[in-house]
Amino acid sequence: MDIAIESHQLKKYFGNIHAVNGIDLQIPRGSLYGFLGPNGAGKTTTISMLSTILRPTSGSASILGYDVTKDANKIKELIGVCPQEIVLYERLTAKENIQLIAQMHGLRKADYKEKTDDLLDKMNLLERANDKVKKFSGGMRRRVNVLMAVIHNPEIIIFDEPSAGLDPQSRRVVWDFIKDFQKKKSTIILTTHNMEEADDLSDELVIIDYGKIIAQGTPEELKGSLGEGDVIEFKVKETDRNKRDDIVSRIGRLAFVRWVKKVGKGRIILNGLDGLRKISELIDAVQVQMLDISIRKNTLEDVFLDLTGRRLRN
Ligand SMILES: Nc1ncnc2c1ncn2[C@@H]1O[C@H](COP(=O)(O)OP(=O)(O)OP(=O)(O)O)[C@@H](O)[C@H]1O
Ligand SMILES: [Mg+2]
Repeated sequence: MDIAIESHQLKKYFGNIHAVNGIDLQIPRGSLYGFLGPNGAGKTTTISMLSTILRPTSGSASILGYDVTKDANKIKELIGVCPQEIVLYERLTAKENIQLIAQMHGLRKADYKEKTDDLLDKMNLLERANDKVKKFSGGMRRRVNVLMAVIHNPEIIIFDEPSAGLDPQSRRVVWDFIKDFQKKKSTIILTTHNMEEADDLSDELVIIDYGKIIAQGTPEELKGSLGEGDVIEFKVKETDRNKRDDIVSRIGRLAFVRWVKKVGKGRIILNGLDGLRKISELIDAVQVQMLDISIRKNTLEDVFLDLTGRRLRN
């Protein structure tokens, strides 16, 4: 397999905070690779090392064979980074912001003029191309920032939380935009704490928690690791903790139930085969009133919950 991005026991410590604590990556060329993890997991710190903004405490990493500590200048030519914190030149227009980046990368006007309009159009920003970005909404600013990461045709693109703060419609536009690069066989890293985004876009992903990779695979492999079946989630109207524990034990004894967990505040979540047809068995076992019942297929959130006992978003 052709590997574009590689790391071995990559670590970054800030004093006694082990932000990245031994990350091993092998990212195939041409893949869209997701980093899924909760706030503070170490996603941004990892990509800051890969993009040579931060120096690793220890371990190694390379981009297309170039070492992140020795070949920083070469790597900067090869990658495009869309940072989590939006960086724009406020007094320039959307178009000027993008063209400025093109010029910084040494592109000539003939090479970027049409492309800038084309990119702005793809992001539904062409009408506002000549407005100063300081007048833009958060979602428009994010979309301009995404374009600034790709104007120079980088072989490797890193998007750090590209859809943060976007409404569902703009999120779609950004997702489609990213998918387009996937089709063109760019190698892409995408960080997110949104499991739908990771699921929908990633060819393969790592789940990161407390600076370590806790799971790796395609979205299907990861969800499949929990087994086939449905996830049923609900709340019980029972305030007594012991009685809630009894309910959970009774559910655990039902034949169709694979696993059951308490997820706080009377919420219970379980995985079972053919859950929809077994709902009456469940109601009999619970014995108290159930609220907010939902039934769905396994998600990456369930994978995270299974591995850590926590939710991606708290
Ligand atoms: N410059 C810094 N100095 C000290 N601690 C830092 C620094 N940058 C990050 N950290 C810490 O490192 C840990 C990982 O942070 P990081 O930003 O990499 O997480 P993340 O996965 O990107 O989270 P989020 O989803 O919130 O963006 C956190 O505990 C954070 O507080
Ligand atoms: Mg981050």
